[in-house]
Amino acid sequence: MDILTLTIDGVQVKAPKGEKLLWAALDNGIYIPNLCAIRGMEEPFAGCRLCFVDIEGRHEPVTACTEPVTEGMLVHTNTPRVNRLRRTAAELLIAAHHVDCRKCPKNRNCELQRIAAYLGLKLKPQRLRKIERSLPIDTSHPCFILDRNKCILCGKCVWVCNERLGALDFVFRGFDTMISTFYGESLAESDCEYCGECVAVCPVGALIPK
Ligand code: FES
Repeated sequence: MDILTLTIDGVQVKAPKGEKLLWAALDNGIYIPNLCAIRGMEEPFAGCRLCFVDIEGRHEPVTACTEPVTEGMLVHTNTPRVNRLRRTAAELLIAAHHVDCRKCPKNRNCELQRIAAYLGLKLKPQRLRKIERSLPIDTSHPCFILDRNKCILCGKCVWVCNERLGALDFVFRGFDTMISTFYGESLAESDCEYCGECVAVCPVGALIPK
């Protein structure tokens, strides 16, 4: 396996050829906020827009989850424009997320909380209008609950489910996009065999065990 050397925030790190920059950074203890990436995804979804970094020689920031490492790459994870982009992306997620941390089973174990703290953001939108949605909460399954109001549409549950069964997917478009089963049936009526993978990868409190 070819091993490449690159520099992230002044620290020289090594990563296998073909590795995405996000994993090269995380494996070397350099945190880059991320919500939608799963290691091993051939075509990362890149939907959360939180993992922007600057690479010397590039005019625009790039998403670290989609960018393969190259020999000699010089990466900066904390430039002013990168921070502006990721703060805006996080603020949009917070504005559309039903924030009820004290009652949420994921409280203190939630990636959105962690990222908000990292970026110095409050979990109440400051600049953007709060978007309250009243989407159906599916409690039909004997093992877990799907609360779409807390879903941040990272797509991780869809991806892991598609690796096995394909019981979950995105439906509708734009602001109406949500996670659903085939034909919109309840989770109990769906093909779900409860492997538990979707619950394990959910970074917030949208999929929680009963
Ligand atoms: S982790 Fe890269 S866009 Fe979500």
